[in-house]
Amino acid sequence: MMNFTVFVFGCLMLTYSCNGSMEEIVGELQRELQQLKMKTGNEIQALKTSITTYENEIQLLKTSSAIEIEILKEEINTLKVERLNGSEVPKRRFVLGTNSFAEKPAFSASLTNHATSLSNFQTIIFDNVFTNDLRGYSGITGIFTAPMNGTYFFTATVMSHSGEYLETEICMNGKSLVSMYSYDTHFEQGTNSVVLVLKTGDKVWVRHSNTQGSKAFGYHWSAFSGFMI
Ligand SMILES: *[C@@H]1O[C@H](CO)[C@@H](O)[C@H](O)[C@H]1NC(C)=O
Ligand SMILES: *[C@@H]1O[C@H](CO)[C@@H](O)[C@H](O)[C@H]1NC(C)=O
Repeated sequence: MMNFTVFVFGCLMLTYSCNGSMEEIVGELQRELQQLKMKTGNEIQALKTSITTYENEIQLLKTSSAIEIEILKEEINTLKVERLNGSEVPKRRFVLGTNSFAEKPAFSASLTNHATSLSNFQTIIFDNVFTNDLRGYSGITGIFTAPMNGTYFFTATVMSHSGEYLETEICMNGKSLVSMYSYDTHFEQGTNSVVLVLKTGDKVWVRHSNTQGSKAFGYHWSAFSGFMI
């Protein structure tokens, strides 16, 4: 092995000394080194360029993701508002604690505070929502919007203040259907109910029906409920 190495080295020296002087060899090596340096420099430059490209792409992705997130947030807010306004109703809703989806609309709500200074046809907003399967009812507007076609049962009870006569009614899409009446000698609860065939989007609510009386009793003495049969 040793002998072989010495032999190869000897041959190399022989080759170099045969083909040119030591200066030429050094010059050749320097040129090669220079070329290698340039090549490496170019490669480093190319790598730097692609890193910059990647950085720009990452920045772009970050920016567009941020914009998309903003758009999604906006959409969520819109959906929330629409849902509160009762104009958008999801088809199914997971019922907490039951491990299942509500399949039929059902709601029940009561009046927390007295409704006072009621004008003619003003909606009575039953704000205290007990149940709202499929989110058909809005405790903000007081309006139930049918989330699906079907036959529904509605009932409402409205109590008058002592010494104040009160008339209210259940209406559908603005049309009076059945009325509740409370005489004015004592606190009285007027009540009525109705079964309706509704199609998706039909609206049902309780409203003040006459210029007589202007106050509905709160503290959960007045309530509005409905469900699909
Ligand atoms: C929700 O109702 C309010 C008050 O009526 C209205 O100003 C707003 O534009 C409604 N929003 C949507 C998304 O319908
Ligand atoms: C709901 O009823 C309306 C009117 O009868 C009908 O046009 C519509 O196709 C029904 N929708 C569904 C989902 O059954």
